[in-house]
Amino acid sequence: MTSLLLRGRLLSFHRAPESLADTASYLYEEDGGLLIEDGRIAKAGPYAAVKAAAAAEVTEVDHRPHLILPGLIDTHVHFPQMQVIASYAANLLEWLNTYTFPEECRFVETAHAERIATHFYDEFLRQGTTTAVAYCSVHKSSADAFFAEAMRRNMLMVGGKVMMDRHAPQGLLDTPQLGYDETRAVIEQWHGKGRNHVAITPRFAITSTPEQMRAAQALAEEYPDLHIQTHLSENQEEIRFTCELYPDATDYTDIYARHGLLGKKTLLGHAIHLSEREADVLAETGSVAVHCPTSNLFLGSGLFPLKALARREKPVRIGVATDIGGGSSYSMFKTLDEAYKIQQLLGERLDPLESFYRMTRGNAEALSLVDRIGTLEEGTDADLVVLNAAATPAMRLRMETVSTLPEELFLLQTLGDDRAVVETYVAGQAGKSTLVAPSQRE
Ligand code: GUN
Ligand code: FE
Repeated sequence: MTSLLLRGRLLSFHRAPESLADTASYLYEEDGGLLIEDGRIAKAGPYAAVKAAAAAEVTEVDHRPHLILPGLIDTHVHFPQMQVIASYAANLLEWLNTYTFPEECRFVETAHAERIATHFYDEFLRQGTTTAVAYCSVHKSSADAFFAEAMRRNMLMVGGKVMMDRHAPQGLLDTPQLGYDETRAVIEQWHGKGRNHVAITPRFAITSTPEQMRAAQALAEEYPDLHIQTHLSENQEEIRFTCELYPDATDYTDIYARHGLLGKKTLLGHAIHLSEREADVLAETGSVAVHCPTSNLFLGSGLFPLKALARREKPVRIGVATDIGGGSSYSMFKTLDEAYKIQQLLGERLDPLESFYRMTRGNAEALSLVDRIGTLEEGTDADLVVLNAAATPAMRLRMETVSTLPEELFLLQTLGDDRAVVETYVAGQAGKSTLVAPSQRE
């Protein structure tokens, strides 16, 4: 049995914090110990107590004075868009047609997909993100590259071969039958292998014919435990075009509802411009609206009413995500920083406890995976991030005036990026410090 004892300031949420004063919503251990055995958290608590429970020969790593949190979770990202990020476009549909679709065509080449997969996981580890939910390209080989590399790194990843059979270049189209067959093949080959989870992934209603939606529905019925991911209500022009393509549907949400695609494992990227009826449908089905703040600002898509959706009489479940490459940063700190600013513009407050809850436990709950990831609870997987809120000269200077944990978290969120990530652990293995330098890789 391999065991490791980490020492540092532990932070883990028990539930969503109700306010900055809600100290009962989290565990904070100033001199904490975390015992890891066989990739799982065996014990968490005061260092002295955890040390006493550990074997005498345990390997110790002292991370004081840094914070130790559960690894960060990103609930919506596009694996084939690492070379799309930072593309100059007026809006979503122009961005898709001009940059994104041509780039995704390159993933027909297995060697290209494998090369990008290496960079993808390196970058997530650099940012302290240990789980991501990804769209691959339409090509099955892109999903193969994605999951093979996740397994090599022992990371818990959710991903799917995108299904799309219209309104895109020829090189990016499957058919209802091919999309069904290849998704099924990806599920059979990868779901449950290592820590892999396969998601049924019709890209969005514009790029799927009703026949393909029915194929996605058939998959959802055959594999009811799988995640389903798609995009919803991101941009006004997109919404108009979508409703023209599905004239019988009441609204955008109804298209997915009619095809049996809503439910507790369904992740709906963006969901910005929902009617009350649509928000009710998401709440009633337990579907998750995934907020992608840097993307929504970058593409000018709109301001997601996070606080308003969360406090409805029928609350909508919410995840937070980068949406690389529509999103403009891989960092979950930058993501929540922009989420904060969007709420400011809407006259709402998003406090730092809630932000850190959302990038850890909140996203694990959104994925129905909180029994495995997102906390420091005993028995869960030892995916961790070690954070230094004084990582840069500007952060160090500001830290001189910080005296509370929420202040420190807010500083990390506002000024932090990958430089604040001291270490990332994946199932108890140090991940960030062991990355191969890009210059040595190719
Ligand atoms: N809608 C359909 N595809 C995409 C995509 O790749 N990115 C974003 N932001 N929205 C989409
Ligand atoms: Fe997206």
